[in-house]
Amino acid sequence: MIRSLRTQLVLALCAVVSVVGIVQGISSYQLSKAGMNALLDLRLEQVASRLRGPLGDALPSIPARGSQPARDIVITIWRDDLETPYRSTEPSLPLPREAAPGFSSTMVNGEQWRIYTLREAPKVIQVAQRSSVRHELSEEAAVNTLWPILVLVPLVCAAVLLVVRFSFRQLNRLGSEVQAVDAAHLQALPTAGVPIELRPFIDSINRMIERLARSIETERKFISDAAHELRTPLTALQLQADNLQRDIVAGNQERFQELRRGIARSGSMIAQLLRLARADASLQREAVTQVDVSEVVVAAVAEVLPIAMKRDIDIGAEEMASAKVRAIEADLGIAVRNLVSNAIRYTPDGGKVDLRTEVRGNMVWIEVIDTGPGIAEELLPRVFDRFFRANTEIEGSGLGLSIVKAIVAKYGGSASLRNRDDGKTGIVASIGFRLSD
Ligand SMILES: Nc1ncnc2c1ncn2[C@@H]1O[C@H](COP(=O)(O)OP(=O)(O)OP(=O)(O)O)[C@@H](O)[C@H]1O
Ligand SMILES: [Mg+2]
Repeated sequence: MIRSLRTQLVLALCAVVSVVGIVQGISSYQLSKAGMNALLDLRLEQVASRLRGPLGDALPSIPARGSQPARDIVITIWRDDLETPYRSTEPSLPLPREAAPGFSSTMVNGEQWRIYTLREAPKVIQVAQRSSVRHELSEEAAVNTLWPILVLVPLVCAAVLLVVRFSFRQLNRLGSEVQAVDAAHLQALPTAGVPIELRPFIDSINRMIERLARSIETERKFISDAAHELRTPLTALQLQADNLQRDIVAGNQERFQELRRGIARSGSMIAQLLRLARADASLQREAVTQVDVSEVVVAAVAEVLPIAMKRDIDIGAEEMASAKVRAIEADLGIAVRNLVSNAIRYTPDGGKVDLRTEVRGNMVWIEVIDTGPGIAEELLPRVFDRFFRANTEIEGSGLGLSIVKAIVAKYGGSASLRNRDDGKTGIVASIGFRLSD
């Protein structure tokens, strides 16, 4: 079964055009053949009637035998008082003198002849033509009528293809718009200019998008509220633990520190959850400004510099293209900081982290390259998943890259993580944003 409506339509219309073409071809072939035969008959009849008078007597009485071209008509005139033909353009052809008046078809000398016999005492005028010649002539004329159809059918099919393709362009456009709908771009599909047959589909897709947007927003709000609500008791817990520290006996200090680290981990998890909920929120256009990408990168480097120095990691921003994007500065800052914090966190002491910004086409790319262990290739496709952690030995909440992905998606950009391919181990993390016009 053909699944494409377009192909189905093109094939059906081309089949109809071909059937019409074939029927038209057969009928014009037959009609032309019949018409040609009638015309040839008319010619025989006219010649016979012209030969009734003195024109018949003017024919040479003894033409050379077999001198006549095969396609010519043969004329024989008999006279009642003569046994042999009075006049004949081909004496070697014994036309049947007794033939009934009018048209007849007879075998003469092993060939089929079409003969017109005109009886007008004392003369019998016979005009004959080879059936094979007549057949050839009528065939030629009939075949000629087929050419226009043979040329037109493919042309009409090509026109059908173009028209259908043109009509389906709108459907394709709608298809790509539907494809572009994802959690980050839940916008209703445009209904202006949509053919009325498609309106019910578009309306129901739009209703579905609206419901989806509402439920995603409810979920996002729940995460945001929950993280917010958890933050207060956790801060209180942290304060209590700080106050308790000096009352903890020396033997319990290690377990107590473990408890404090646990509280700190929960705190950073909640902070990341809040960032994720904010990154997932739809873009507030009024807060968008022109953001200088290199400034954001420099600020992110400055922020991690103390930790990098403590761990003897050489961090630097080398190739810096100046570029501006339209965004909320805080969003860009969070995205770059998450990549830089990963590079610092997963690179062993004494390593190197490079940042660079590069303009390619209408995009600016921010790359963070480290000398850490990299990530197993089979785990790479999952690193942007929420709570996914490829390395459980080093602490983290597994949300940093999900936040990066959400921010990038909000601006229609893209994010990727790959292992270095220059012979060293490490990760090349890159995010790209569209340049502002
Ligand atoms: N530069 C890197 N080098 C090696 N592994 C990395 C790097 N960046 C990310 N990863 C791996 O990808 C996983 C997901 O990273 P992500 O930033 O989302 O979470 P996280 O760093 O564990 O936690 P969070 O950033 O929320 O504190 C990490 O747990 C780590 O295993
Ligand atoms: Mg991280």
